[in-house]
Amino acid sequence: MAIEKVSVAGCGLMGSGIAQVCALAGFPTVVREVNDALVEKGLKGIEKNLDRLVEKGTLRAAERDAARARLKGTTKIEDLAGADIVIEAIIEQLAAKREFWRELEPRCGRHTIFASNTSSLSITEMAVSTGRPQRFVGLHFFNPVPVMKLVEVTRTIATDDAVFDEAHAFAQRLGKVPVRATDRPGFIVNRLLVPFLLDAVRALEEGVASIEDIDNSMKLGCGHPMGPLTLLDFVGHDTTYYIANIMFEEFKEKRFAPPPLLKRMVLAGWNGRKSGRGFYDYSDPKNPKPVKLL
Ligand code: CAA
Repeated sequence: MAIEKVSVAGCGLMGSGIAQVCALAGFPTVVREVNDALVEKGLKGIEKNLDRLVEKGTLRAAERDAARARLKGTTKIEDLAGADIVIEAIIEQLAAKREFWRELEPRCGRHTIFASNTSSLSITEMAVSTGRPQRFVGLHFFNPVPVMKLVEVTRTIATDDAVFDEAHAFAQRLGKVPVRATDRPGFIVNRLLVPFLLDAVRALEEGVASIEDIDNSMKLGCGHPMGPLTLLDFVGHDTTYYIANIMFEEFKEKRFAPPPLLKRMVLAGWNGRKSGRGFYDYSDPKNPKPVKLL
């Protein structure tokens, strides 16, 4: 059965991006947050993004209005139930995610596909808490969701082949480029990206070079759009620290172990762009300045 209606749980950075992309691709989309203020904040962010696309001439005003009309915000979990696929992008904590799926499952039709946007938690552990592990996949989008083309579509040993194919086709219908992966922490991108980012912190810790020189090296020497320390600030140090710990726990390999400097910055609340300070100070967001750390 082809996917026609979409629900998204969570309207934060990732959830709002996913909801925006779904609505723009023509899917009636319900997006849920836990209170009215968060629903409003998420929808306002989407409206701002859509307006920017119109200003740039990438989107016609009528297309913006049609996409907005396809989007419905809610705080009620039952409003998510009518969809053919539910994409979960709530807080990155296994207990919260399992609780969400347990609450939602009995309200949904048997055909509904469940998908988690997790970047590192076990899809299998979530799937088995639902009673429909054969209809459970990972759909991992990248930040900023409207811009990044990739979606990692992941399966567990219990996922039906037809459901995996349907989720893959759905990502293509969103205008994304899906890749297939299996349920191992970090999938493909974070398996490669996280050790690289952690090595950049280690290089800084060991005095190899300054923040700016490490970033410029990878930007100008390797053509990366952002240097690794800027990217860490963009993703959020708390998020990377959390993912790295999950990967270290799974693989027991040193390359996934978060370096002490990253831990100290997380403890200090210097989580990057969103907290105004990370490897750079964002007091003037258009002109970030490297901070003195050591
Ligand atoms: N929402 C929507 N659009 C955005 C955006 C956002 N948050 N940020 C930037 N854009 C758009 C801009 O409007 C611009 O669009 P046009 O080309 O149509 O004008 C385009 O993206 C480029 O933006 P800028 O010119 O302002 O800046 P840039 O060229 O430096 O690009 C970037 C910004 C796309 C973020 C680029 O720096 C980049 O690709 N950085 C790397 C991002 C990355 O690695 N993301 C993955 C993070 S890891 C992850 O998400 C997974 C995980 O599990 C942790």
